[in-house]
Amino acid sequence: MATYKLVVLPGDGVGPEVVSAGLEALKAVERRFALRFELTEDVVGGACIDRFGVAIRPETLERCRRAHAVLLGAVGGPKWDDPTAPVRPEQGLLALRKGLGLFANLRPVKVYPYLAQASTLRPEVLEGVDMVVVRELTGGIYFGRPQRQWRSRRGRQAVDTLRYSEGEIRRILRVGFELARQRRKRLTSVDKANILESSRLWRTLANEMASQYPDVELRHMLVDACAMHLIRRPADFDVVVTENMFGDILTDEAAMLAGSMGMLPSASLGRRRSDGTGLGLYEPVHGSAPDIAGQDVANPLATVLSIALMLRHSLGEPAAAAALEEAVERVLAQGYRTRDIASEGAQTVGTQAMGRLVAEAVLA
Ligand code: IPM
Ligand code: MG
Repeated sequence: MATYKLVVLPGDGVGPEVVSAGLEALKAVERRFALRFELTEDVVGGACIDRFGVAIRPETLERCRRAHAVLLGAVGGPKWDDPTAPVRPEQGLLALRKGLGLFANLRPVKVYPYLAQASTLRPEVLEGVDMVVVRELTGGIYFGRPQRQWRSRRGRQAVDTLRYSEGEIRRILRVGFELARQRRKRLTSVDKANILESSRLWRTLANEMASQYPDVELRHMLVDACAMHLIRRPADFDVVVTENMFGDILTDEAAMLAGSMGMLPSASLGRRRSDGTGLGLYEPVHGSAPDIAGQDVANPLATVLSIALMLRHSLGEPAAAAALEEAVERVLAQGYRTRDIASEGAQTVGTQAMGRLVAEAVLA
């Protein structure tokens, strides 16, 4: 029986709730496909700060390194938001991404026909939306040094550094080109080349690499224009590749196409083995949503869909991944909704109930 080691990091806010609902669905997959998951739960983020004074412990990182995959709920919340605090929950997430070498963040955005009315955009704009944003995750302004504040005669000052090396840019562009090749063969590289030197290097490298991918149509788009096109003609996009912070901002925007942040999964991947699998970190895009934490109303489907990505990209179990994705479609088709995607005539259910419904659909 195939056995997989998973580290589970529920984290903060709605994290523990969506993870527990997601694991319910995972148990159903375990039964149906005769797999075995060895789960180890650990702490990260604010929960870790409260217990250990740091956002993640070295032994947790080590445990993750030895696992097949890591499932994370969310980190952060108002309790730890003080901008002058020496430790912040987000540091735990960044340490995981960097420490595990997970440079490629895939954020698929798909509009489920049943949910088109949950979006603030008109249904006809959303027709056919099916894209993947490939976000660079371990470089750029998130990690560049110097990053600090100081006092000077002219008052307080601060600096952040946006730095990229050729190697960092090439490896993420390669992920974009390869993914486009497997899909509709359109790659949009997003930058700010009219202003930023790092973007000009990015664009030059993309153009150089394009000759190795004659089957892929590469186009460049400035990030501000991309923000506009994403809501004007979202169905035009296939694969979007971009640097860390642009990807952070654009994926929150893109999430709104799907109607709710509660529907968007993500996979963070590093180097792959020859069979295409490798260690990965899987998390819903939505974050800790402290305003609704502990109420059993958060949408666990982003977590369920993240688990599907885990089955596909880290565990090499594509059939199980597809079964989970189909189960989500089925539950939506049956008219079950969490509060964020509620609509007239549909039945609103809680977080845990949604997890159980997906589990039942997997086994049905
Ligand atoms: C995301 C989040 C994180 C980020 C935060 C929580 C550090 O916004 O995954 O998009 O900025 O990368
Ligand atoms: Mg974000």
